[in-house]
Amino acid sequence: MPKPSQQTSPAAAVSTTGGAGAFPNVRMRRNRQADWTRRLVAENRLSADDLIWPVFLIDGESRREAVPSMPGVERLSIDLAVKAAGEACDLGIPAMALFPNTDARLRSEEASEAFNPDNLVCRATRAIREAGLNIGLILDVALDPYTSHGHDGLVIGERIDNDATLEALVRQSLVQAEAGASVLAPSDMMDGRIGAIRQALEAGGHTDTILMSYAAKYASAFYGPFRDAVGSSSTLKGDKRTYQMDAANTDEAIREVSLDISEGADMVMVKPGMPYLDIVRRVSEELRVPTFAYQVSGEYAMLLAAAENGWLDQDRVMMESLMAFKRAGAAGILTYFAPAAAKALRAGS
Ligand code: PBG
Repeated sequence: MPKPSQQTSPAAAVSTTGGAGAFPNVRMRRNRQADWTRRLVAENRLSADDLIWPVFLIDGESRREAVPSMPGVERLSIDLAVKAAGEACDLGIPAMALFPNTDARLRSEEASEAFNPDNLVCRATRAIREAGLNIGLILDVALDPYTSHGHDGLVIGERIDNDATLEALVRQSLVQAEAGASVLAPSDMMDGRIGAIRQALEAGGHTDTILMSYAAKYASAFYGPFRDAVGSSSTLKGDKRTYQMDAANTDEAIREVSLDISEGADMVMVKPGMPYLDIVRRVSEELRVPTFAYQVSGEYAMLLAAAENGWLDQDRVMMESLMAFKRAGAAGILTYFAPAAAKALRAGS
């Protein structure tokens, strides 16, 4: 019989830390044993303050239209968007992002509707502002809701022309800032656009306009349902791989984000969200700027499709997926779940 001290205990065999830090002195499950212990040791917390609600707009009065590829998401006319902004305020959601579904007749090669001070997003912005609500309004800067070919930039010959697009983005930005946007969110991925827009805002006296750059935005197949919602899926010719990033790259995201910060971005975004949590982590950790993640339309559609089949518990995957962004270091999340998540948080789940 070997002496007890010479025996290799099964506990020592599974110990990863050795010595006094080993099982059974250490039992990780002690801190997980009850709801109160789990709450006490939670490392991250999700609150309504973390949420940004993307809302789609349509023309008309008292109109709401379902988006079939995004169950539960509707396009709203301006009067209903004002009501939605009121609900968002009541739920403690700090900001909304507005996206127009532009009438096909107003889309053109030059995207001139983007600079119309009375276009759908500008009218909606003014209407929400006039309601005097305590809510941030984020407007995308990109030409895709306004171009007949569905690209974010101007097409000259066979190319998406970077520098010609910059001028158009600057005009769009000024019109949107004048309408009362608190945040402009360039989502077009042209080079130099943050600097060009920042300069124009400063020169135009819009010194407080925040730039939230879609800084690391990938050429992703997860944007499909969004393009349905804004009506650009059928118009889009080709793909966006000459301006949006390649899914294979990480270091390139750090360069993109660094450039946007140096050009005057106040906040940055990584997009899509869940498949790119590694990028959220690297950007937030290495660059230490307010880093947002966009849980995009395709991510929402996937979760909803499974939930509608009874394969996933919708509320639980919603909360778990949003917590994943916090854990990765996101300051906040753009998510179509925003109102549902805010309600669930208020109910204490
Ligand atoms: C437009 C824009 C897109 C999204 C936000 N702004 C689509 C795209 O780049 O094609 C996607 C959002 C989503 O999928 O929820 N530039």
